[in-house]
Amino acid sequence: MAIEISHGCAKGERPLIPQVCRVTEITQETPDVKSFRLVTLDGKKPFDCEPGQLGMFGLLSYGECMFVVSAQSDEWVQFTVKKVGLVTEQLHNLSVGDEVSLRGPYGNWWPTESCRGKDMLFIAGGIGLPPVRSFLLYCLEHREDYGRIDLVYSGSKYDDLVFKEQLFDIWPNEPDMHVHVSLYHEDPKHPEWKGDIGYTAPYLETLDLGPEDGNRVAVICGGPSLSRTCRESLLKAGFDEGNILTTLEMRMKCGVGKCGRCNMGGHFICLDGPIFSLAEIATMHSDV
Ligand SMILES: Cc1cc2nc3c(=O)[nH]c(=O)nc-3n(C[C@H](O)[C@H](O)[C@H](O)COP(=O)(O)OP(=O)(O)OC[C@H]3O[C@@H](n4cnc5c(N)ncnc54)[C@H](O)[C@@H]3O)c2cc1C
Ligand code: FES
Repeated sequence: MAIEISHGCAKGERPLIPQVCRVTEITQETPDVKSFRLVTLDGKKPFDCEPGQLGMFGLLSYGECMFVVSAQSDEWVQFTVKKVGLVTEQLHNLSVGDEVSLRGPYGNWWPTESCRGKDMLFIAGGIGLPPVRSFLLYCLEHREDYGRIDLVYSGSKYDDLVFKEQLFDIWPNEPDMHVHVSLYHEDPKHPEWKGDIGYTAPYLETLDLGPEDGNRVAVICGGPSLSRTCRESLLKAGFDEGNILTTLEMRMKCGVGKCGRCNMGGHFICLDGPIFSLAEIATMHSDV
């Protein structure tokens, strides 16, 4: 049976007015990726959210961008931000203690309930790991509810791999979790790399991770080329479109279904998404 995904959008209201928050911790993940932990000015968690939900994080005087909540605790939320342009460059200049703006939570969330009992296959490239990690961390926190877990992750260079400590030291030691990491090419700066080499989809195919009679759910997050080729590989391996989940990261401005920036067919991705199954995406293209 296909996985059921909620498209009801964020729980509670979708707050449009930003909260002022404070940066409490910054981690340099790669040369151009940093993670930021945020709390409210009185030291509380800014909002509660489900794995996969989003926040508009920015600077009141400058601008804001949509990011997935990459991790959370009872006290803070964390965003993992790749420096690609105007706003993200300003965010990378932040220091611990600085004040920032935050709206959310927005969007739907990973279907943690309907994936219970399933084997999970997480596939990500580069900065696609933070969205996938929000679901993966949930599965590890509720380990007895899920079957075998595989993570297939790749990046163009060793330095571009995010969350290296979890990738190489922590996750491989989790029960029945299998971490497969590849670099797209040999990396002259890291000749000591002993792992695999190859683009994600052909690499995935070598791992022989099939649909397990519908009991394995695949979760993909990466750039357009990775997403397309990995979807094709999974379909070729016999996965049902309803058991392949992905995020649609259309550009977003308001996050609350007003500006029309993120519409696809009859859907606003900020309200109904960003998480969909391939079966749903196939119907959306013609749903205008
Ligand atoms: C649902 C969703 C979740 C996201 N989660 C994350 C995340 O967890 N971590 C993260 O680093 N980024 C994430 N992003 C992307 C992030 O929002 C953009 O990188 C950011 O808005 C860029 O803003 P900027 O002002 O720095 O870049 P700009 O100066 O506006 O643009 C710089 C370059 O990036 C391209 N670009 C900007 N936004 C997007 C986009 N959405 N898709 C494709 N290309 C884009 C532009 O075309 C341009 O080439 C997410 C986006 C969406 C919609
Ligand atoms: S971002 Fe404005 S409608 Fe979705």
